[in-house]
Amino acid sequence: MTDETASGTPSLTVRDNRTGREYELPITDGTIKASDLTQIRLNDEDGGLAAYDPGFVNTASCRSSITYIDGDHGILEYRGYPIEQLAEKSSFLEVAYLLIHGDLPTREEYDEWVHQITYHTFVHENVKGFMQGFRYDAHPMGMLMASVGALSTFYPESRNITDPQVRDIQIVRMIAKLPTLGAWAFRHAQGKPYVYPDNELSYTANFLAMLFKMSEQKYEADPRLVHALDVLFILHADHEQNCSTNAVRSVGSSQVDPYSAVAAGIAALYGPLHGGANEAVLRMLRRIGSMENIPAFIEGVKAGNERLMGFGHRVYKNYDPRAKIIKQAAEDVFEVTGVNPLLKIAQELERIALEDEYFVTRKLYPNVDFYSGLIYEALEFPPEMFTVLFAIGRAPGWLAQWLELVQDKEQKIARPKQIYTGQRTIPFTPAVERWA
Ligand code: CMC
Repeated sequence: MTDETASGTPSLTVRDNRTGREYELPITDGTIKASDLTQIRLNDEDGGLAAYDPGFVNTASCRSSITYIDGDHGILEYRGYPIEQLAEKSSFLEVAYLLIHGDLPTREEYDEWVHQITYHTFVHENVKGFMQGFRYDAHPMGMLMASVGALSTFYPESRNITDPQVRDIQIVRMIAKLPTLGAWAFRHAQGKPYVYPDNELSYTANFLAMLFKMSEQKYEADPRLVHALDVLFILHADHEQNCSTNAVRSVGSSQVDPYSAVAAGIAALYGPLHGGANEAVLRMLRRIGSMENIPAFIEGVKAGNERLMGFGHRVYKNYDPRAKIIKQAAEDVFEVTGVNPLLKIAQELERIALEDEYFVTRKLYPNVDFYSGLIYEALEFPPEMFTVLFAIGRAPGWLAQWLELVQDKEQKIARPKQIYTGQRTIPFTPAVERWA
């Protein structure tokens, strides 16, 4: 029952049928405080009522002014700006500034920001040696995670997270160096020499050069491909409290340095249900192989044998707005590279899923990963690199969220409760007696 207190504050009246007692819990911003539940208890021994919420499906963990999502209406906004407009009219570095600083830059602020990022793209030579130590077939995401974590040892002052200037320089370093580390992880798997950054190129063009440059003096990627990748970075730049951002915040809540917190985010993104999904989409499309295999595949999904990768989202119960923009970017890229033959299978899967009762009733629509893998493949990235691209795009979001976290007086070290289901107080018998 929802009510208002005498003071006019919205509240929730709860009756505990175990005791017959009633409690009035204030409602703020559509939430009750989980800690207010602890007063609802059977007796003094009882720790009080708690919320059980595996996967945090209905628990707000923070207040945030960074990203707004309305999943039912397919709306995504960064700092209030609609994603469609940012993808069309902005650039990745401008969006990164917006996310981190909360507002769009003036011309001077933008020039300084781009200059700072450009001149921090180099990494310490020992980082290179460290990366070269990986096995020849190391997954680039594992290399990225480890090398970002290792940066904390190169910048020990980063532990001073209360100093705004120290924080700012780590943010610049991280956004600047991630493409270098990502490109080197890619070159490593190919057995090619690592390419140093070219400060004359834009952020995204430089990344492509570090990936693909061979013996030419200067590598200049097709501007249409540079633009498409820049748009993909914008689309991935933040997505409020997703799994990896929650990991960054959770680890960051221990007041560790931002490199370690972001390395935790990269670890979370590595998983197939999060950033690894576009790699899984491509593998799925290849396995389906041809149009006539689609009906049997869909039947298998509906029977619960497997998931249609790239479909469904915890938050979007309508078309993922990023998927629409990506579909357009895919067409632009295919104009340059030629059409990926898997596109037809993807389009047919989408057509069926948008009509089929199983997917319609569960509100399963294509998400950001459904088409992004096809674009990445057309850009000649191997599937292992897809999540690395996601990580580079997501870095400004992780860092904006980390910055918000460390300045939020309401935040505490993350430490959820549990419901203990094991045994209690069993007398221990030493091994020699148990095995006798
Ligand atoms: N294919 C088939 N059935 C599905 C799918 C799917 N892709 N996703 C969800 N369902 C079904 C699920 O079996 C369940 O059915 P039922 O109610 O009969 O048990 C129902 O839909 C609800 O699923 P859920 O697992 O409770 O939903 P969730 O919010 O926990 O999971 C998700 C969200 C994204 C993990 C899930 O939809 C999924 O596994 N999708 C495929 C992987 C994928 O594309 N991930 C990328 C997510 S977007 C990028 C990002 O933000 O990281």
